[in-house]
Amino acid sequence: MCGIVAVIGSRQAAPLLLEGLKQLEYRGYDSSGLATIDTTSNQIPSRLICKRAKGKLLNLRNLVDTSGSPGRLGIGHTRWATHGRPDEKNAHPQIDSAGNIAVVQNGIIENHVLLRRSLEAEGVEFASETDTEVIPHLISKELKLLKQVGRKSSGAMLLEAVRRVSLKLNGAYAIAVIWNEAPDALVVARRKAPLLIGLGEGEFLCASDTPALAGFTRTILPMQDGEVALLTPLGIELYDQHGDRQKRSPSVLRDSEQIVNKRNFRHFMLKEIYEQPETASLWIERHLPEGLPSESPVALPFDASFYKGVEKIEILACGTSRHAAMVGAYLLEQFSGIPTSVFYASEFRYAAPPLSPHTLTIGVSQSGETADTLAALSMEAKRRDSLGDPDYASRQLGITNRPESSISRQVTNIIDIGAGIEVGVAATKTFLGQLLAFYGLAINFAAKRKSRSDEEIKKLIEEIRTVPKHLTLMLETHNELSEELSHQFSDTQDVIFLGRGINYPIALEGALKLKEVSYIHAEGYPAGEMKHGPIALLDHKVAVISIANQGIVFDKVLSNVQEAKAREARLIGVAPETIETEIFDSLMPLPVVSELISPLLSLIPMQLLSYHIAANRGLDIDQPRNLAKTVTVE
Ligand code: M6R
Repeated sequence: MCGIVAVIGSRQAAPLLLEGLKQLEYRGYDSSGLATIDTTSNQIPSRLICKRAKGKLLNLRNLVDTSGSPGRLGIGHTRWATHGRPDEKNAHPQIDSAGNIAVVQNGIIENHVLLRRSLEAEGVEFASETDTEVIPHLISKELKLLKQVGRKSSGAMLLEAVRRVSLKLNGAYAIAVIWNEAPDALVVARRKAPLLIGLGEGEFLCASDTPALAGFTRTILPMQDGEVALLTPLGIELYDQHGDRQKRSPSVLRDSEQIVNKRNFRHFMLKEIYEQPETASLWIERHLPEGLPSESPVALPFDASFYKGVEKIEILACGTSRHAAMVGAYLLEQFSGIPTSVFYASEFRYAAPPLSPHTLTIGVSQSGETADTLAALSMEAKRRDSLGDPDYASRQLGITNRPESSISRQVTNIIDIGAGIEVGVAATKTFLGQLLAFYGLAINFAAKRKSRSDEEIKKLIEEIRTVPKHLTLMLETHNELSEELSHQFSDTQDVIFLGRGINYPIALEGALKLKEVSYIHAEGYPAGEMKHGPIALLDHKVAVISIANQGIVFDKVLSNVQEAKAREARLIGVAPETIETEIFDSLMPLPVVSELISPLLSLIPMQLLSYHIAANRGLDIDQPRNLAKTVTVE
């Protein structure tokens, strides 16, 4: 959550910070702020200027435009509130009592209450309710001590003060710090939250994520856990938490990691929904080339040892990624014959099942930065390591859209879903990418274990190859259809999504999408579960959206839908275009495909209907209230 940007160089910092923050606004958007060090008046020490505004970034931009924030060194922040209401005083940067040190932070300082109490006992007065405010006060204290010794430059003192303070902070965080007595020094540090240093020409820009670097540089140095860096116009000094100098070469970003624009679409969400045929085509091109051997029909970056001896799979994920994992579990069990369990990563951390040998642990996270998922993976790694599981390291897999993210540094094997940056807070094309990754994995496991015949595997692969074509056709018809249908939802307050078998997770995903962008209360149920309680909710005011694809549960779903019809609910069917039934009030037609690949298509009406209902209500679709794209807090 939250996005941070920091810059030092020869250009004015404020415009660069505002541009960087605009690209990071998807990480949080309830307030924002920036601070610069103004050296124009030659006053010693220089002047620290801090501007903060409640609400969208535009408010900060207007404030900076009218009141100015000169300086070539600065830090900026866009916030998703965790501690303290989203208002001006709780926005970042947070500053020390003298107003000389400014700090922006992304993450959570878990021991802030204790730190705050001890600072207050020493007479420090706090101006905000944030966990972050302890940091500038602690740095100020350290600087006073360092000044007494006084042998270092101001930049080196700031670096040392930040390093010492970071050792006192518990939690996951990335910070950027400036001090008016060190007008040529920017200090940044990170622990368990992302931070990248971008290397420009005679300038450096640090940010929580790559889009903030667009137009600035493609050369980056991702900081590692526990590192602290001093950036000056002369270069970068990188240290580990013990103060030992680190040397690493920068890497170069791919274009797709930076480019974020809406093209002609009204919202990123719609653009990203429309990018799905391309997501599928690219995935097929990369992973299903012709001519692969029958024992490894999908090109994935693992050798035979990865698949060997796996007896059980556990998958850890949150939100939409968890829904993809549930489809994955269905495939891994029903197609590949491997017992598979899916866990909410946030629950797994505190109630993991007993360990069993020969288990593959999979973490699914489009951002690769979700705190709950990373923490669950790390906890599981420690657990297995302490029990001396010899092949545990090779039995970890991350499925992500951001191969440069924290998850890649944490697990040994990665499937990069390669969907390109997703900006809309509601996950769409990355969901499809995650599903495809699971199809690939399930096919390879089935081939290795011979749980399916070569013909069955070939048939599934051929069907997957048809997905981009079906998606393209569906987008054409379903966009218009969803727009028309969405008008029936202007007064709707409750929607129930039903699905069974492999489409049950798609019903859950439909409900999540609708909740996220339209704020309508929605629930997803396995269709057969309705009669065990949720049916009590139904009347003519409730809409029921039912996924009923041909397959083993087709007739069952139709019977479940009849039960809803008898309670006068408004019924929308996501069902084969050939269906002969009068049961639905409206039909969102699916092409006739096998049940096994149907989730790759039934997701389209879920996404488009949610989008259009929210658009009709005039809501902020790409930045829904209370949400953030990357949830880097527990
Ligand atoms: O980046 P991750 O895939 O780990 O994110 C997990 C969830 O926070 C995420 O899927 C969330 O539910 C989305 N907003 C769904 O649209």
